[in-house]
Amino acid sequence: MPEQTPAEPTTSPAANIGVVGLAVMGSNLARNLASREGNTVAVYNRSRSKTDELVAEHPEAEFVPAFSYEEFAASLQKPRTAIIMVKAGGPTDAVIDSLMDVFEPGDIIIDGGNSLFTDTIRREKAVRERGFNFVGMGVSGGEEGALLGPSLMPGGPDEAWVTLGPILRSIAAVAEGEPCVTHVGHDGAGHFVKMVHNGIEYADMQLIAEAYDLIRRGTGKSPAEIADVFAEWNRGELESYLIEITAEVLRQTDAATGQPLVDVVVDEAGAKGTGAWTVQTALDLGVPVSGIAEATFARSLSSHREQRDVSGGLPGPAEDAFTVADADAFIEQVRLALYASKIVAYSQGFDEIRAGAAQYGWTIDLGAISRIWRGGCIIRAQFLNRIADAYAAEPELPVLLTAPYFVEALGRAQDAWRDIVATAAAAGIPSPAFSSSLAYYDGLRARRLPAALIQGQRDFFGAHTYKRIDKPGTFHTLWSADRTEVEAEDTH
Ligand SMILES: NC(=O)c1ccc[n+]([C@@H]2O[C@H](COP(=O)([O-])OP(=O)(O)OC[C@H]3O[C@@H](n4cnc5c(N)ncnc54)[C@H](OP(=O)(O)O)[C@@H]3O)[C@@H](O)[C@H]2O)c1
Repeated sequence: MPEQTPAEPTTSPAANIGVVGLAVMGSNLARNLASREGNTVAVYNRSRSKTDELVAEHPEAEFVPAFSYEEFAASLQKPRTAIIMVKAGGPTDAVIDSLMDVFEPGDIIIDGGNSLFTDTIRREKAVRERGFNFVGMGVSGGEEGALLGPSLMPGGPDEAWVTLGPILRSIAAVAEGEPCVTHVGHDGAGHFVKMVHNGIEYADMQLIAEAYDLIRRGTGKSPAEIADVFAEWNRGELESYLIEITAEVLRQTDAATGQPLVDVVVDEAGAKGTGAWTVQTALDLGVPVSGIAEATFARSLSSHREQRDVSGGLPGPAEDAFTVADADAFIEQVRLALYASKIVAYSQGFDEIRAGAAQYGWTIDLGAISRIWRGGCIIRAQFLNRIADAYAAEPELPVLLTAPYFVEALGRAQDAWRDIVATAAAAGIPSPAFSSSLAYYDGLRARRLPAALIQGQRDFFGAHTYKRIDKPGTFHTLWSADRTEVEAEDTH
């Protein structure tokens, strides 16, 4: 009998998706992936201990651990699909380079970190030139979102979306039956939208903080009593995750002192930079995102302790001099001012996305963006349905706050909004986001802006020229001669 040749061992790769970077976000995302039907998840971390810990603590996930990039690549089915969840910047570049050394053309590399969208555009180009697919993906929802269902904002090529779409739909949060993920657009579109999401988050948080401050200083209510106000607001049109957690934070008592926690926390707000990116990008695009900018600057101001220490004696109304006669009526006014300012913040954020899409050649469905923010992410809110409705009715809406629903809401709120901004100014209570939002609103409404005077000044000192309302062309006044007007070349 002829000798039988033993069959080749068939060791087909076990995993359909991999995660690199197993700190809090990566490990939770890996667990989320593993919990979904049909997924087998390969995991790799630079330092081995995190991989060992994750695998030991979660046997139910049946992870496929890898301890080198080669092992990681060998454990993945083709096209290999790997999500990177490491520190943004240099570490992300290092991991991409290592993956390209062991992956093959056609494989998909996803950066789920908080990368700057211009880095993503650069990386996408470099990775594509080597034949791989690269997807920059915004992930929102913090560690809980990563584990239970985040809002996902992937960019990148259509080809990658074919493989990635079903996987991402399976792990995303679900809002009103829809998974909170959409293919945002090409290359850096996903990270751009995530950046603006974070900018809006800054504005929303600052507005809520201003509302709390006004109520506390105007009514003398305790943080726990104000928690009840926010809990009540969370049952109406302001219903959102941020309002909900505000009530929780205000209700928290410090175990060590018995004081409200909010009174023992140092009043200096930190930032990781995405708010600043949103504002810097908006400045480059020429988009006024004043609410987001004020929120970002308010955090900066709060953190300049050395300046605040020497400024406490500056003249102004006494801190304890402000009380309102009718607390309930005042609280309702603050609620309306908050809602109106929030509409402005979102309108400005969507404006920035529109401008970014035009500048970078992305096709972004603004209605879809508002829908994927309804679940999983930090700014999830009932209100996003109204934005989705507005874009469904008019996809090319030039200014979100001119949609009929928002016009009605602003009409209802504007008297209270003006009163609150005026009251805060008179009482010396800083309310930069409330007041800048109102100024933006009035700027948009104004038939004539003093920009005409600025054009006159620019023409005076720099011959920058101006246009006239009554005839076409570009003009310059001979300011240092006889002050007659001449036609000129448009120099802006
Ligand atoms: N935390 C959040 O709420 C949140 C929300 C959305 C998005 N994000 C983004 O998600 C990403 C991960 O966040 P995170 O908080 O989980 O972790 P992180 O603290 O930002 O990063 C730690 C991870 O990066 C790895 N790492 C650092 N330098 C590396 C290098 N040169 N090569 C390979 N790996 C390197 C670390 O590996 P070692 O263990 O070996 O040090 C560790 O796995 C970040 O981009 C973050 O901005 C975070």
